[in-house]
Amino acid sequence: MEERYMKVCVVGTGYVGLTTGVSLAFLGHQVTCVDLDQQKVDMLNGGRCPIYEPGMDDLLAEAAPNLTFTTSYTDAVPGADVVFVAVQTPSAPDGSPDLRYLRSAAESVAQNLDHSFTVVVNKSTVPIGSGNWVDAILRESFAQRAERPAGCEFSVASNPEFLREGNAIHDTLFPDRIVIGSDNPRSLEVLNQLYRPIINQTFTAPSFSPRPDDIGAVPLVSTDLASAELIKYAANAFLALKISYANEIGQLAAKVGADITEVTRGMGLDQRIGSRFLQAGVGWGGSCFGKDTRALIATAAEYNYSMPIVQAAREVNERQRLIAVERLQDELRILKGRKIGLLGIAFKPNTDDLRDSPSLDIANLLLARGARVRLHDPIAGERFRREQPALAPYLSESLDDLFDDCDAVVLVTEWAQYLELDWSKFVGLMRTPILLDGRHVLDADRMARLGYKYLAIAG
Ligand code: UDX
Ligand code: UDX
Repeated sequence: MEERYMKVCVVGTGYVGLTTGVSLAFLGHQVTCVDLDQQKVDMLNGGRCPIYEPGMDDLLAEAAPNLTFTTSYTDAVPGADVVFVAVQTPSAPDGSPDLRYLRSAAESVAQNLDHSFTVVVNKSTVPIGSGNWVDAILRESFAQRAERPAGCEFSVASNPEFLREGNAIHDTLFPDRIVIGSDNPRSLEVLNQLYRPIINQTFTAPSFSPRPDDIGAVPLVSTDLASAELIKYAANAFLALKISYANEIGQLAAKVGADITEVTRGMGLDQRIGSRFLQAGVGWGGSCFGKDTRALIATAAEYNYSMPIVQAAREVNERQRLIAVERLQDELRILKGRKIGLLGIAFKPNTDDLRDSPSLDIANLLLARGARVRLHDPIAGERFRREQPALAPYLSESLDDLFDDCDAVVLVTEWAQYLELDWSKFVGLMRTPILLDGRHVLDADRMARLGYKYLAIAG
């Protein structure tokens, strides 16, 4: 199929929307991103990226000729072949996703549609059935317009993202698969066309994100709306439960005297299991796994159906955070008054995202038990100060400050900077050199030789 460049609008410039918009512009499409946040839009128009995502500044510069940012839907939607909606869908108190941002974005899109055929794509992770819901909102809002352009047609599709923060560009340009769902064949055709350069891998890869040697044509899963929506949830929940399973085995390994790292290596080499997402530790966090497992359970409940496996994965994950605190309590006996340093605040390395980060929970659990907590992060410190005012006073600007007179240090986020730390320098600063490896990434023997009392979550 011949490649054809399209006019694209992306609503919401968070981790997902921004990566989508910048990547499509890099591939040659004409992209306008709309976000309500004026400050974000100003930064982006100035070529600066509001989030920490490796390579994004460079991709932004390369894509600049095809890319604009605005706060106005009127500048972005008219004439678009494809409108992506990538606004946030946080958990409501009952676990179901809060769809008010999606509703208001859909209404604004409907007010501005004028093209002969526009595909409105749900990029946000939405409960199964939301495609139809967005379609209904679009049609209602469109019908309410005083002047409706003649010949204007639109259709809703689902195109879930599978990008990992910290690897967002790589995962977008070189995905394992692209999933598109719609009940309208014309929409599937348009999206198939939009993604041709990725499917056929015909673009020149950016220097900072080279094409993997083993990538061939990218498989396209072209399916109905409900299946595409469920694929996203099913995939995320599976990854979450894979990690929780490793963590559950990890606690048993500790009891029977086995080494979890060896166990998961031995398991992962079985290609039916696969080695990725088996790293045991303080558990998963971030914007997706917690929210999506909750949403899956909430959707099932609407059908009077329970999902005990997914529920168990969540419980194991919560328990892991508590286990970190209990490991320290077992060792120190008394937590009250102890100074505990947490290395890493972001929910994983290479992002500044703090959503559902294990570090925040561990800090709160320790504070509730009377410990004196200090937190450090190589990148997310500023954001932490802004977003977590209650914990902000416990931020350590320097590692010296964190290690000084510390009773125990926990490696919570495995940033490269921590792995490469001059650990021999810091051991002398501590009051008691207890080191809890929350990710099973440090060399236990080496740490012991340097004078640390090395502990692991499963060990
Ligand atoms: C995304 C997806 O949308 C979510 O469903 C998925 O599960 C996780 O990733 P994310 O990109 O992380 O969310 O969201 P966030 O970083 O919060 O960004 C959303 C952006 O949309 C913000 O910049 C916000 O200002 C903007 N927004 C929100 C709008 O422009 N209009 C709105 O009505 C609401
Ligand atoms: C995830 C999915 O991977 C992605 O496909 C989806 O679309 C969005 O959600 P993300 O949340 O950015 O991406 O991070 P991911 O790399 O999946 O890590 C999630 C959490 O699991 C992190 O807290 C990470 O530390 C933890 N993790 C990951 C483990 O504890 N062990 C592992 O082996 C892997």
